[in-house]
Order: sequence, then structure tokens, then C-alpha cells
Amino acid sequence: MALFSREREEPNVLNGKIPRHIAVIMDGNGRWAKQRLMPRVFGHKKGVDSLREVITTCKEWGVEYLTVFAFSSENWRRPADEVTFLMGLFLQVLQSEVERMYRNNIQLKVIGNRSHFSAELLEMISAAEEKTSSNTGLVLTIAADYGGHWDILQATQQLLKDKPDLASCFTEVDIQPYLAMAYAPDPDLFIRTGGEQRISNFLLWQLAYTELYFTDLPWPDFGRSALGDAIFWYQGRERRFGRISEQLDATK
Ligand code: FPP
Repeated sequence: MALFSREREEPNVLNGKIPRHIAVIMDGNGRWAKQRLMPRVFGHKKGVDSLREVITTCKEWGVEYLTVFAFSSENWRRPADEVTFLMGLFLQVLQSEVERMYRNNIQLKVIGNRSHFSAELLEMISAAEEKTSSNTGLVLTIAADYGGHWDILQATQQLLKDKPDLASCFTEVDIQPYLAMAYAPDPDLFIRTGGEQRISNFLLWQLAYTELYFTDLPWPDFGRSALGDAIFWYQGRERRFGRISEQLDATK
């Protein structure tokens, strides 16, 4: 070990349990750019590089599902030029990255309300999902025009449309298959960058027992090493799902 090395030793997360599903709010792009006297959208552009690095690292470390919040139901309230930029960036990312995802055995899924997307974006999303649908590696989900309220509402509406007889007596188990992420286990680890400590209408149903990790690092500065810190923190948590510690020991 180099005693005087200035490099921080990274925790070896592969010694511990790797979360199966990580959900991320990629926050702080705008402030990161502003600090550099650049337009906010510069931060979003740089955010794509962070996302690429996080995807590669998740794949390497054996994370099965990575879900990122790219655009919330509430983000339509942003200045029109930023909304237009984000939609364009989404399209551009699909165009430039899907081939690489396909080659790397990544399955891409998009969740959210698609009714406000352009025909071009809708087509790109369907083509990307179709192309990667038989891949068996990391499942990357992009949440776009997604909101937890929207998800629970659309699931309930679909359930009652399919099974009107259940109107007066449906349970959690009935709703589950209609939620946007019915294909994935609930997230084990939630990460929010950018210093805010809230869930902001992301995966409300699915985050019920997720470990919540917040970091001040803005998303453009987040990468492999920061992901390692988050996973290392997760590995120190005791997940009880409503039980007490002694009950967990008994099952070990
Ligand atoms: C939040 O930061 C970030 C967003 C609303 C957009 C996230 C988008 C990317 C990282 C681009 C890559 C993703 C895809 C799939 C195209 P903010 O703008 O709220 O930052 P602030 O809090 O500093 O203003």
C-alpha cells in the first residue's frame, strides 16, 4: 500500500452484497453548469457521460436493474427551451447509444406517460426497446414523463378496466402487475445526487422499503467511485422489512 499516495482507496464493493436494483435521481446538473458560468443544459449534456459511466459500472459489478429519472411529470413546468433541450437529448441518446447497449447485452425500457412525446421520439423509444428486448444483461430503465402518482393511478385504472368485478375489493397484489415496473424487483438502493433529500414523486410505490442514499455531489461529478461509496454504505445497512434484528439473525 502506498502510504503517502494521495489517491483514496476505494472500498471493494465486490466483497459484499450488490444491490439487485438501483434507482437514481440524477440531480444537480443545472447548478453544476451555473457554477461554471455555463448554461444549465451544459450540465445535462455532461450528465450523459456520468450516466454512461454508471451503466458500465453497474454492469461490471453485477447490478441487475438500473432505473434513472430522466424527466418527471413535473419537469414540463421548466422553461420551454430547457424542456425542448431535454427531449432532444433523450432522442440523441437513444440514437447514439442503443447500438452500444445492444452489443453490451443491456435491455432498455422506458417508463412514463408517453402521450406528450413527439412521434419521432415515440418511434425511437419503441425501436430501442424492441432491439434490446431479448438481451439478458443489465435492465436499464429510463423514467421519462414519469411520476409516482401517475404510475399508481394508471395501474389502478388499467386494473379496473381489465377486471371491473374487482372494483370494490382489490388489494395490493392486484395492483402490482399493472405498475410501470412490474417486470422488476423493487429497488434495493435509491441514490439522489445534488444535495436535496426528497423522493420527488419517483417510484413512490416501489421505494417503500428501499435504502435511501443522498449525496451532495452533483450528477455530472458522479461516477464509478461515488457509486462505490453508495453501494458500500448500502452494504452496511440492515434491511428488516418490518421485522426485528433477532428475527433476521434466526434466518442466517
Ligand atoms: C435534474 O437536474 C436532472 C434532470 C431533470 C435531467 C436529467 C437528465 C440527464 C442526466 C441527461 C441524461 C439522461 C437521458 C436519458 C437523456 P437539475 O436540472 O434539476 O439540476 P439543478 O437542481 O441543479 O437545477
